[in-house]
Amino acid sequence: MIIHTIKELRELVKGWRKEGLSVGLVPTMGALHAGHRSLIEKSVSKCDKTVVSVFVNPIQFCPGEDLDKYPRTLNADEQLVSDAGADVVFAPSPKEMYGEGHILSNDFLTYVIPPYFYVDKLCGKSRVGHFDGVCTVVNKLFNIVQPDFAFFGEKDRQQLIILKKMVKDLNIPVEIIACPIVREESGLALSSRNKYLSDEQKKDALVLSKILFNIKACYNKGITNVSELVETAYAFLNSNHSLEYLEFRDCENLEEKKVADSDTIVFIALKVGNVRLIDNIKLS
Ligand code: PAF
Repeated sequence: MIIHTIKELRELVKGWRKEGLSVGLVPTMGALHAGHRSLIEKSVSKCDKTVVSVFVNPIQFCPGEDLDKYPRTLNADEQLVSDAGADVVFAPSPKEMYGEGHILSNDFLTYVIPPYFYVDKLCGKSRVGHFDGVCTVVNKLFNIVQPDFAFFGEKDRQQLIILKKMVKDLNIPVEIIACPIVREESGLALSSRNKYLSDEQKKDALVLSKILFNIKACYNKGITNVSELVETAYAFLNSNHSLEYLEFRDCENLEEKKVADSDTIVFIALKVGNVRLIDNIKLS
């Protein structure tokens, strides 16, 4: 079942609440793949009812990013959602979410702005304003659905850490459940943006997981000096890769690590052609 309006969704959820049922929310931008499916299945196994939102959120795209060409596959998404056992797809239009003319500048829209310390690094550095858009839309979805649990993938680890911080700081009554990255057999982390990669570029994209797996293997052998661990990455890179960052940071507060430990996440972002890819791994 697909619902397009906030009013209808609220009525549905109200009915569930009257019956005393628990509600899980899986926020997505659609183009669903096995990674999303794992989030949906987790929600279905934990909650009585599951809402999957499919909304390509315009306010989290920066100027020049892929808002217009972001894959939109609502029919296939609905099929995957029902195969995975969820109850409803919530697919609002931008107008439904942001109003007439959907005026998206923060001159006209109330935004939820995460703390500067969490957004002045990693993806936030090149995607200025991105996490303001993410926090704003997720906050709206929490207000619309009022779920008991919300499920997010560790693939977008900075997003996950920022959303946990938002829930804590704003006392939002929802529990965030983090779900592990789903990878192809090759090691490539699943992402809707993998659709942009040619077969050749897909091979080049394996460098992200190769670098991360190698760093973890070196750490497991006892190397903890971060500069030394960063050095190991260069053997994997070639002229088809444009490295944006490779950083070691704390899993709770994103502080930089000079010496790796079991609370360290290694974050990587790089471009293959024009396609920007991210990945991460926890060193535990
Ligand atoms: O991770 C995503 O797909 C999006 O950032 C989210 C959380 C659905 C908000 O639009």
